[in-house]
Parts: sequence; structure tokens; C-alpha cells
Amino acid sequence: MGDGPATLAQAGYLVAAVLFVLGLKGLARPRTAVRGNLLGASGMLLAVVVTLADRAIVDYGVIALGLVVGAAIGVVAATRVQMTGMPELVALFNGFGGGASVLVGAASFLVAVDEGTETVDLVVAAALTVAIGAVTFTGSVVAFTKLRELMAFHPQQGKLVRVANLIGVGAVVALGLALLAQPSNELWLWLLIAVGLVLGAAFVLPIGGADMPVVIALLNSMSGLAAAATGFVLSNSLLIIAGSLVGASGLILTRIMCVAMNRSLVDVLFTQLAAAGGGLDPDDIYGGRIKSTSPEEVALMLDDADRVVVVPGYGMAVAQAQHAVRDLTRSLEDRGTEVVFAIHPVAGRMPGHMNVLLAEADIPYGQLVEMDDANPTFARTDVAIVIGANDVVNPAARTDPDSPIAGMPIIDVDQARTVVVVKRSLSPGFAGIPNPLFAADNTVMLFGDGRDAVVDITKAMADV
Ligand code: TAP
Repeated sequence: MGDGPATLAQAGYLVAAVLFVLGLKGLARPRTAVRGNLLGASGMLLAVVVTLADRAIVDYGVIALGLVVGAAIGVVAATRVQMTGMPELVALFNGFGGGASVLVGAASFLVAVDEGTETVDLVVAAALTVAIGAVTFTGSVVAFTKLRELMAFHPQQGKLVRVANLIGVGAVVALGLALLAQPSNELWLWLLIAVGLVLGAAFVLPIGGADMPVVIALLNSMSGLAAAATGFVLSNSLLIIAGSLVGASGLILTRIMCVAMNRSLVDVLFTQLAAAGGGLDPDDIYGGRIKSTSPEEVALMLDDADRVVVVPGYGMAVAQAQHAVRDLTRSLEDRGTEVVFAIHPVAGRMPGHMNVLLAEADIPYGQLVEMDDANPTFARTDVAIVIGANDVVNPAARTDPDSPIAGMPIIDVDQARTVVVVKRSLSPGFAGIPNPLFAADNTVMLFGDGRDAVVDITKAMADV
């Protein structure tokens, strides 16, 4: 290959990199998000085309096969997955990214060693690639199984696993150094991958349910770092840029999630979380204090209200209640009632989960208020309607230092004049703990499926 095509390829990569950055910038605002997505996707298409055209020795048959198999799996996964299963899918995709980095990193390293072209830079990059990639792969698989609730958290085993993790981190560093000293000894490479795989699973295993949002954001960031390291192995500048963008944005998201849960990253990764259930016994909290209500009663309360705040949670996603909620909002607004939505940063099961659902139902973004802005307004709110949210409105986070969610900022619905909680039962949410809000004097429970209940309220309002 002469200089010409190589320069052309670099120019193509530069354009793709600019498209990635502009795409990310667009994604920061709902109004520009669709354009941002398109820009990013065009950048990726350009990157793929340039890379394929630039590589002199490429077996296009194998690539086409990979494309067909990968696209088929992707299409099936994306069309079959329920909105509520999206976080698990994202967790799995992070893992695939890590796994791909391990394969590419290891293969490139072995080829270089075979040809005797392994430089110190390449060995360092390959060691980082396989180590980060392996940790990301199994970490994501364990995160997937935990989100699917296929695997439970055993706090009593947590301490032991965390000690083992520290030893594991030491072993990864030692094996990386051994590979650097003796690149031709393949054993170090295989051991590095094996220890990385065990470490990834062991890292995520003891992390408590409530901390999962942080873990997923962190794994996302790590998949980017693994890709960036792969870029160094392959001397591919675009992969370095794209991987770094994913790594950096994942880290920013990790920080946002940590702040949202009032946990430091070190706490999430290395400290024991209180066992699910904390110190609270559901019978002590709920016994004789639960007041259940009917759609007709709620309609009467709403008819009297000047200001209503809706707090959506995971249950709204399960019930697919967003369209029904929009209809209720419109009928309230038609009566001159002010309606806003208070959004907790970790409501649902993925960052932005509630925003996506409400946007799908055409609820204007201006009506969505972030937790910090919503909280001071509850004192002048007549009715707070909690739809399928639980942990994010649990006052135990403020009052019970032994609670697994102690210190997590919550939406202060309990300070509204009346709180209506719509859910099917008194079952706990993701963190597995009872919620004193349900037994509060100013709370009434409307038991039922989120969508049916909201439809019934709207119908009942028509008769008020
Ligand atoms: P949760 O605390 O998980 O509570 C959801 C509630 O929805 C449940 O108590 C359930 O009660 C109710 N529900 C389920 N299906 C329903 C239906 N069809 N109709 C009505 N209600 C239904 O939800 P949340 O308040 O949104 O809090 C999110 C939790 O997930 C936090 O602990 C957070 O840390 C964690 N998490 C978040 C993320 C991100 S990034 N957002 C990722 C992983 C984990 P019933 O069974 O009684 O109906």
C-alpha cells in the first residue's frame, strides 16, 4: 500500500472521529439526540468502510460471514427484548465488547510474537487489552445474570470474595509484568486471560443490588478502555479515539450514578453493603397502617388538586403505563391542574429509563423535572402520584442508617399533602427492602397493575 491510500484512510478516520464527537454532543440534549445518533452511526459506517478498504490482506468472505451472523443475533436480540430487559441487553453488549477485545488482542499478540515483531509498546497494549477485556466480559455476564435475578447476592460471602479480588488484582499485574519480561512464553498470556476472567466475575459477584447502576456504567466504561487498548495493539487511531470516548463517557456516567446513590466508587467496589432487608421488618412497618384506595377516590383527590407531581419508577416500565399516564396528565391539564414529572436518576433499570418511556408517550421534556429541582416543590404539591416506583421514594434512605440504600438521595414525595402509590402489592423493589412511605399517614395505596389503575383513574375523573 502506498502513501496515498494510507493518507486517505487517515483523513477518513479523522472525519469519522469528528462525527463521533459531534454525535456525542448531540446526544446530550433530547432535541438534538436523534441527529446525534445519526451522526455517530454515520461515523461508524465510514470507519468500517475505510478500515475494510484500507487493509490490503482482508478475507472479505469471513468478514461477510461474521457480519451476517452478528447482524442476525443483533436483530433477534433487539426486536425480542422488552423495554424492561434493555439494561440486561446493554450489560451483555458491554461484555461482548470486552470479549472481542480479548480475542483481537490475543490474536494480534500471538501473530506479532510469531513474526518476531513484538515491541514493548505492543506487549503492554496487548496485556492491557486482554486483562481489561477479560474482566469486562465475565463482569458483564455476572451483571446480566444479577439483573435477570438469576443470581442472588450473598452478603456473608462478600467479604471473602473481596479479599480474593485484591489478590486477583495483584496477580493480574504480576502476570502482565511476566508477559512483558517473556513475551514468547504464551503461558503468561493464557494465565493473564484466565485470571482476568475469574476476577471480572468475582468483582461483580458481591456487589449489592442497589449498586448495580454504578457497576453497569463502569463496565461500559471498561469496554471502551479495552477497545482503546486494542487500538494501540492494532495501531488504529480511530479505535483509540472511539474507545477513549466510550471510556470517558462511561466514567462520567459512573460518577453521575455514584452521586445519585450517594456512594463513592471505592465504597461500591470494596465495601460490604448491608444485607437486603436492612434492619426493617415489613410486618412492623406495615401492620395495620396500610390504607388502600380506589380509582374513584383518587379521581376525587385529583379533582381538588392544583398541583400534581407524578413519580414514575420501574413498575411503570413493566406495566407499559406511559401512554395511560399521558392521557391522565392531559385530562388533568384540561382542568387547569399543573402536572410535572419528578425523575430520579436511577429510577427504572437503566440511566434515562423514565425519560425514554415518557418521550415515547410524547410527554414534553419541559414537563420532566430532575430530583434536586423537584424536591423543594413537594411542600406545595397537593397530590404526588407514585407509579411503580419504590426504592427511589423510600424515606428509609434518609432515616435508617442500616438500610442498604442509606444516604441515597430520594424523591421527597412524603412531603406532599397526599401521596397515592400505584403498585400491585406491598412487594419490595430492586433493593429488596420495605418502604415506610406506604404506611405513612398521608399515603394511600392504589393496588393494581400500573396501566389498568391509571386508565381507571382517568375514566373515573370523567365522571367527577
Ligand atoms: P423499584 O424500587 O425496583 O420498584 C419497582 C416497583 O414497581 C416494585 O415495588 C413493584 O411492586 C412495582 N411494579 C412492578 N410491576 C408493576 C406493574 N405492572 N404495575 C405497577 N407496579 C409494578 O423501582 P424504582 O423506584 O424505579 O427504583 C429503581 C431501583 O433499581 C433502584 O434500587 C436502583 O438502584 C435500581 N437499579 C437502577 C438502575 C438504573 S441505572 N436506573 C439499574 C439497575 C438497578 P409490585 O410488585 O407490588 O407491583
